[in-house]
Amino acid sequence: MMAASKPVEPQTSSGLPRWQLALLVGTPIVLGVGAVYLWSRRRTKEKQNQGDGERKTPEGSASPVPGQTQQDGSASRARDEDMTPLDRAQAAKNKGNKYFKASKFEQAIQCYTEAISLCPKEQKSDLSTFYQNRAAAYEQQMKWAEVVQDCSRAVELNPRYVKALFRRAKAQERLDKKKECLEDVTAVCILEAFQNQQSMLLADKVLKQLGKEKAKEKYKNREPLMPSPQFIKSYFSSFTDDIISQPLQKGEKNDEDKDKEGEAAEVTESSGYLKAKQYMEEENYDKIISECTKEVESGGRYLAEALLLRATFYLLIGNATAAQPDLDQVINMESANVKLRANALIKRGSMYMQQQQPQLSTQDFNMAAEIDPHNADVYHHRGQLKILLDQVEEAVSDFDECILLRPDSALAQAQKCFALYRQAYTGNNPSQVQTAMDGFEEVIRKFPRCAEGYALYAQALTDQQQFGKADEMYDKCIDLEPDNATTYVHKGLLQLQWKQDLDMGLELISKAIEIDNKCDFAYETMGTIEVQRGNLDKAIDMFNRAINLAKSEMEMAHLYSLCDAAYAQTEVAKKYGLKPPTL
Ligand SMILES: *[C@@H]1O[C@H](CO)[C@@H](O)[C@H](O)[C@H]1NC(C)=O
Ligand SMILES: *[C@@H]1O[C@H](CO)[C@@H](O)[C@H](O)[C@H]1NC(C)=O
Repeated sequence: MMAASKPVEPQTSSGLPRWQLALLVGTPIVLGVGAVYLWSRRRTKEKQNQGDGERKTPEGSASPVPGQTQQDGSASRARDEDMTPLDRAQAAKNKGNKYFKASKFEQAIQCYTEAISLCPKEQKSDLSTFYQNRAAAYEQQMKWAEVVQDCSRAVELNPRYVKALFRRAKAQERLDKKKECLEDVTAVCILEAFQNQQSMLLADKVLKQLGKEKAKEKYKNREPLMPSPQFIKSYFSSFTDDIISQPLQKGEKNDEDKDKEGEAAEVTESSGYLKAKQYMEEENYDKIISECTKEVESGGRYLAEALLLRATFYLLIGNATAAQPDLDQVINMESANVKLRANALIKRGSMYMQQQQPQLSTQDFNMAAEIDPHNADVYHHRGQLKILLDQVEEAVSDFDECILLRPDSALAQAQKCFALYRQAYTGNNPSQVQTAMDGFEEVIRKFPRCAEGYALYAQALTDQQQFGKADEMYDKCIDLEPDNATTYVHKGLLQLQWKQDLDMGLELISKAIEIDNKCDFAYETMGTIEVQRGNLDKAIDMFNRAINLAKSEMEMAHLYSLCDAAYAQTEVAKKYGLKPPTL
């Protein structure tokens, strides 16, 4: 029943932690229609190759429907006066179909027009066919407005007329009326029980376009949003070789006090970079950017550090535009500590990846490795980039390099395992899958306090349908990091997949929101579940909350797609009384 609960967790299927996906690339694995129309996945698969050639021809020309007589023989023409108006309308339509097949669309349109005017108004089904056929001819002439008009008449006469709805959907798309297109194609998907690949693809396409447009608009104007402290700490913990995320050195502040002289010292005491660092330790994150700005503007001695820390917080609040000049400046500062420059390159590289510029991203990572070849962070983060680029072998060799430099880097070892696992799994190689699973066992034995190791292992175990053990692994994560909301969401999803236990799943996800009310992943997942339960209004509410928390434009676009899909379904339900099956 829940055979397909995997697609509800797109952000994690690459094995990267949530914050990384948010900062690195948003949502690399876009599932679009898949999640929203989850219930139908199995059935859709069976029919994947079903073509749709028939729609290209008008009604009644491809294969005659039994009982529907094709009266175009000479006999019927001879006895014209005996024919009913409907017969004559049918004859005109059949003539139109012949012209259509011969690609004489103008004549075909004339015939269909004749059929429409001959047809008695109460013959709704026939009349709708004639309109639909004329729309098909207009479509050939790329007269989209006419297509929409005729399809609308056809649909008025026959509200569940799939062909007319789909043709109108395609024409609306050409007219750039995406919202209308989405509604039509949603109705089509539901009427076809999600068995037709073509309409699913159109739905997916228009959802993505709509999401992208809306996110572009909204992201520009949104309020900057500081992520939760858990998220920020987790983000900084992925850097080991950097200066700004280290706590202040013991006595650093005192040293500072000692050699202070005159004005400059006063500034460092009450404001500036050191103050920012102090706020960071106090988790008073909202004040960091302004303190860094003071350091930068006063020309303090921690210029490079302040620029890098400020850029990092600009990235965390989702403002890449503001982060970039700071990162550029640090990178170009030849005199600055190489660790700072390498760290800035890693962050700029990740930012480029998020902006879908993998080449610039790769360039930055390579430069970082060049200027600071013994920096484990560079290899660790480049490895993650390579995973996103599907370059597993290079990813593994980067993780290896990182492990070589820092044998205690549990994260890199866990991620290496996961990379190997994905490679084996997608490559359908059972013995390699087993090797990777053994690797996970070793990682959790060697690093029993690394939550990420358990979390990634749990994902692999879930893939392998070893639900009980996966659940145990999530429990270990929760023991280690009780504040990590994401884990509860994963555990909740596991209950759905394993036991089809919706209540327990939702309970765990509610718990995640309780722990971290900025956990967009929790809202997104809950929205997806509500869609499946048919609670569309609740789903839309959840998606909107997630949208307001999105950490990148790309992620926001993905969430808008989910929201729009749910909204279109409510509209279709109202208009046509159509409802998809629910759980
Ligand atoms: C929470 O745990 C997940 C693994 O389930 C990890 O990827 C992520 O980095 C953690 N997030 C935070 C904010 O600690
Ligand atoms: C990002 O920062 C720039 C420059 O500091 C500012 O003009 C812009 O309004 C900010 N954008 C957002 C979305 O906060």
